[in-house]
Amino acid sequence: MPPFAGMRCLVVDDEPRLRRVLVRLLEGEGFTCAEAGSGVEALRELEHTPVPLVISDLRMPEMDGVSLLREIVQRWPETAVIVVTAVAEVESAVACLQMGALDYVAKPFHLDEVRARVTQALDKRRLLLENRSYQHHLEERVEAQARRIEELFLEGVHALVFALEAKDAYTRGHSMRVANYSLGIARALGLDRDMVDTIALGAELHDVGKIGVSESVLHKAGTLTDEEYRHIMEHTVIGARILGPLMRDAPGALAIVRSHHERFDGTGSPDQLRGDAIPFEARLVSVADAFDAMTSVRPYRPSLTVAQAMRELEEGKGVQFDAAVVDAFRRAFDGPTALPIPTPQLQPLRLPSRAMEARRA
Ligand SMILES: [Fe+2]
Repeated sequence: MPPFAGMRCLVVDDEPRLRRVLVRLLEGEGFTCAEAGSGVEALRELEHTPVPLVISDLRMPEMDGVSLLREIVQRWPETAVIVVTAVAEVESAVACLQMGALDYVAKPFHLDEVRARVTQALDKRRLLLENRSYQHHLEERVEAQARRIEELFLEGVHALVFALEAKDAYTRGHSMRVANYSLGIARALGLDRDMVDTIALGAELHDVGKIGVSESVLHKAGTLTDEEYRHIMEHTVIGARILGPLMRDAPGALAIVRSHHERFDGTGSPDQLRGDAIPFEARLVSVADAFDAMTSVRPYRPSLTVAQAMRELEEGKGVQFDAAVVDAFRRAFDGPTALPIPTPQLQPLRLPSRAMEARRA
């Protein structure tokens, strides 16, 4: 069986005699050949039926071989092109190779030489196609693995939240509600998708450090001593320490965990940051956190009404809270979706895309 049985090719030459020589040779190798007498005819032929191999003369009327090559490389990148040149046109032949021709044959040619060049060009084409397909599949695999890494990370993070919820009944639902309120604020402020993802992630994790707080203190019904209060407040630092190695590439979410108990006037904890020095994400979640804490029943006090809690937020503007965030909170939950506070459906957690990129890098 001829080596290229069933493969199509196109022979382009304005001299019918030369064209016939090439066609006969290629048909002997098993090719099914189409013929064209100019570049324009060749393009018409390719538009009708693309082929894996084109052998084209360089000097032709209407459209020469160089212009034809340029079109083929652009429109049919999987087609191998061999140019046929006169010996005096070696420079043009080199230019054609630079433009993407796979090989050239100089006239007058020997049939064995043409046969060898065709075989080589098609081998080269096969390798190029295999390489392209390998690259494509590699990208798909990298993509799938990056997705799996993200899933594993989020599963790990959820496991931490579940562990905390098992230990502290109050936290059950608190993280979710804080995440929902925070997302409402983020949308009212028109934050971009990446920031919204960061805030959703950080808000859900903000109290994870309570895993490291003693249960007797966490569940104490009466007023806390100063020392007990200090112990509870260590949860921000403990949380940041637990999550730090996991979330090196999600610094915004980590900042929420560490800094959600900072106060705008600089008297919060753990770093006594003041005003704009407090990471913005943490200023945002701190309003949502305080609102949920005030409207939930705690072991040591009944809950406030929504209106009372709103008043507290207003009074805390510029003292405990960033005034712009409190205003956004009001905008998010006033108006058509009037209070009591609705519980919007929480979106599935996503890693901020910058973090995703870092994990892929
Ligand atoms: Fe907290």
